[in-house]
Amino acid sequence: MKSMRSWLFVPGHRQRMIDKALGLPADVLIFDLEDGVPEAEKGVARSRVAAALDSARGGSRRFVRVHEAGSSELDADLQAIARAGLQGLVLPKVQGPEDVLQVCRWLDRHETRVGIPSGGVGLLATIESARGLVQAPAIASVTPRLVGLMFGAEDFALDLGLFSHPGQGLVNYARSALTVASASGQIRAIDKVFTDIGDLDGLAAEARRARNLGFAGKAVIHPGQVGVVNEIFGPTEAEERWARRIVEAFERRADEGPATVDGRMVDRPILERARWILDRLEEEG
Ligand code: COA
Ligand code: MG
Repeated sequence: MKSMRSWLFVPGHRQRMIDKALGLPADVLIFDLEDGVPEAEKGVARSRVAAALDSARGGSRRFVRVHEAGSSELDADLQAIARAGLQGLVLPKVQGPEDVLQVCRWLDRHETRVGIPSGGVGLLATIESARGLVQAPAIASVTPRLVGLMFGAEDFALDLGLFSHPGQGLVNYARSALTVASASGQIRAIDKVFTDIGDLDGLAAEARRARNLGFAGKAVIHPGQVGVVNEIFGPTEAEERWARRIVEAFERRADEGPATVDGRMVDRPILERARWILDRLEEEG
């Protein structure tokens, strides 16, 4: 799995931010047509995002956040941005598998006509309600287009009437449920945004917690957050050293039964994890 650690939201109507984003080391750019764009700017945003998808600059993957399934804006979003440079869509407020299938049907009909290989547009479904969370395991395996589930904490807290800071309590259960649902569909879980753009230590702490819960990456909203998230979702240098020691130890052995490396027991799942880390590093080049 190619890594998708940092997902940078870029408001679709802001040309200066689009230009900047194309030169940043975010793994994925999310050009936003939805909540980050004022009503009066929707048309401008659609044409600016379309132009950004055509641009040859930068190495990030290009996703677009469109309006939710069933909304009158969704069709106009899709018409404007379906083109060869589009690599994926972020679907907001997904409540169940049908919301995802609705977009799949549109893509199945139009994708090849606009120069995208069949099945080429990936999807990231945002879970931001109790209903969406309950449906998350079904959503996670509804289509091979799905690359991950993203957690939308603020709307989720609102849905449950939670007034505490959405980094604690029931939200922790929701984050864990989301990572388990994602793993059951063999897709990634992507954590929510951290809104205090000046607090990089706070971002790092939250990103570490998310990684320990099983998230593969995190959404970000500012260029200054990209490096922190890339670093924490790794693999880190310490993990690389650890993985190499384990794989090398097993290369010298005739079988893959349990062994001791640096005083700790290592057996098959740990060896596989070490190999997975090295494979990922190789993919990155
Ligand atoms: N993508 C690309 N570039 C961005 C950016 C983003 N998300 N956020 C800021 N920048 C750029 C700015 O344009 C500025 O570039 P410049 O120096 O060339 O002018 C530079 O990074 C520094 O920005 P800064 O002045 O620190 O922040 P700001 O006050 O311009 O913007 C926010 C702060 C929060 C308004 C802005 O980061 C933003 O809109 N983020 C996205 C929010 C969003 O999409 N929310 C919806 C999804 S949760
Ligand atoms: Mg929202």
